Amino acid sequence: MCGIVAYIGSKPAKPLLLEGLKRLEYRGYDSAGLAILDGTLQIAKAVGRVVNLETKLKKLPGFEGSLGLAHTRWATHGGVTELNAHPHRDDKSGIAIVHNGIIENYAALKKLLTERGHTFHSDTDTEVLAVLIGELYEGDLEAAVQAALREVTGAYAICVVCEQEPGVLVCARKGSPLMVGVGSGECVVASDPSAIVAHTSQAFALEDYNVARITREGFRTSTIDNKPVSPKMMQLELDLEQAELGTYEHYMLKEIFEQPTSLRTTMRGRVDLNEGKIVLGGLMDCAKELVKIKRFILIAQGTALHAAMIGEYLLEDLATVPAECEYASEFRYRNPIIEDRTAVIAVSQSGETIDTLSALHEAKDRGALSLGVINVVGSSIARETEAGVYLRVGPEIGVASTKAFTGQVAALTLMSLFLARRRFMSAERTRTLLDALNKIPQAIETALESNDLVRRVTEKYVERDNWLFLGRGYNYPTALEGALKLKEISYIHAEGMPAAEMKHGPIALIDDGMPAVFIANKGPQYEKVINNIEEVRARGGHVIAVATEGDEHIASIAEDVLYVPDVPDCLSPMVTVIPLQLMAYHAAVLRGHDVDKPRNLAKSVTVE
Ligand code: AGP
Ligand code: GLU
Repeated sequence: MCGIVAYIGSKPAKPLLLEGLKRLEYRGYDSAGLAILDGTLQIAKAVGRVVNLETKLKKLPGFEGSLGLAHTRWATHGGVTELNAHPHRDDKSGIAIVHNGIIENYAALKKLLTERGHTFHSDTDTEVLAVLIGELYEGDLEAAVQAALREVTGAYAICVVCEQEPGVLVCARKGSPLMVGVGSGECVVASDPSAIVAHTSQAFALEDYNVARITREGFRTSTIDNKPVSPKMMQLELDLEQAELGTYEHYMLKEIFEQPTSLRTTMRGRVDLNEGKIVLGGLMDCAKELVKIKRFILIAQGTALHAAMIGEYLLEDLATVPAECEYASEFRYRNPIIEDRTAVIAVSQSGETIDTLSALHEAKDRGALSLGVINVVGSSIARETEAGVYLRVGPEIGVASTKAFTGQVAALTLMSLFLARRRFMSAERTRTLLDALNKIPQAIETALESNDLVRRVTEKYVERDNWLFLGRGYNYPTALEGALKLKEISYIHAEGMPAAEMKHGPIALIDDGMPAVFIANKGPQYEKVINNIEEVRARGGHVIAVATEGDEHIASIAEDVLYVPDVPDCLSPMVTVIPLQLMAYHAAVLRGHDVDKPRNLAKSVTVE
């Protein structure tokens, strides 16, 4: 999902902006551009990868200044063309802008501005905002931006410069993330800390309706109504080495193999085996209130939703408290009933998913206690929840989420045990589960040893265009996750569902061509899953089973078996998902797709 980098200081802006855009490439985009203000505005744009922009710039003179804006676009309004790429400018005022988000009332504004004699060169909503700011400009860029933003509805993160104010950079935010890195005599503004942390570790995030006016001497922050606000400075912790690819071919493969380590980091310092206790610093301030919560609502999208679904099962099973999981985008618009003592848990790797953030706002407005299970420190959702648990799995660069999924499940397991121990679970049972949880990273290491077998099995079916993924109980959401992984990076159509549901219609799909992946670990519904496997085999389907080590029976009824270590059923998704992640990875490589930047996808979806 799109990205912004802007710089004002004393260094040449161009190389710094290009490096910053490369740090943001993993977010997903379709075109890129930059503007340098050095007396006059120079703008260059290119469709495709940042390297195309870089190649173009090498042939262009100028672009020498120390104030600039750069952007990677994920088109929402207007096709993927050079003309629609950002920055956009208003010719009359010499203003240039880059924008993440959607100006929802752009059509009405465009009509009004056209009637006033303005002309437009692109099909984007962003250009309308540039012209509106130009229309309102009377020598004060900050005031013009504030006035324009009072007129627009929608989501935006913007950076704006003007030829008539060569030492000023104005930024603003509503709904799309924007962070200001503060250095000595310079500032780096970006939509993601990974583009800032190489220059400074001191930063603040703009809140909704905030505007920042930045010069080489300092900065001022205010609201769009020009009321001064004080930014909350934070220490950026991102370790860029962690984000490097290392010896792996793709970030996704690196992050799949990182899971034993990342899970150990997630759990480090949070599990007291002797006392049978869970130490979650982010929940301590509201521990008493949490124990009295009568219902949890988990909200998320995509992979985070699948982890949240497992969280629902964990909360009810371990903490014996009512819980339900919903698509954040549905929760937000369905007029949800939030009664007294209800808590909402927003699960999100990026902490910037607009559907989840908006649903969080809705739940908070209706009185729910707000919790977050987030990976990116200081992200919007992290800042807007009252308490929560950070995943600590490190930067997840691959668009297809893997280590964040197991990190989310581990964090939700810890939260459930944290509550269970304060409600009805004995110290003894808690210790037993904590001991088993501590062994999950090792179980994942064992599951990863089957990587070559998973590739060979995948190779057998990679030409098939439709796959089914089936599981029961804790592994029904895991089946959904396996289907999503395959879909989003190999572009093979896949559907996940409860294994029992197959009989209620989808079984009509079963034929000689369709692989059916069953999660058939030795859980409480194992026998039922075996029945479902038989039903598929009776109709000529190809069964691939993820099964528990030592289960010989499964080998007599499944064509291919991918074994994983035996772990308690409530902890099994963190292990049974491993072969599914590897399967999706190998299918994408075998089909020749860009594993880390799959088509049309973005790492963080900050538009509705
Ligand atoms: C997962 O592989 C996808 N990239 C996508 O579904 C993702 O999980 C979803 O957009 C939610 O993102 P978040 O965890 O950052 O909120
Ligand atoms: N809505 C703007 C456009 O389509 C910005 C999209 C983005 O966030 O990259 O150009």
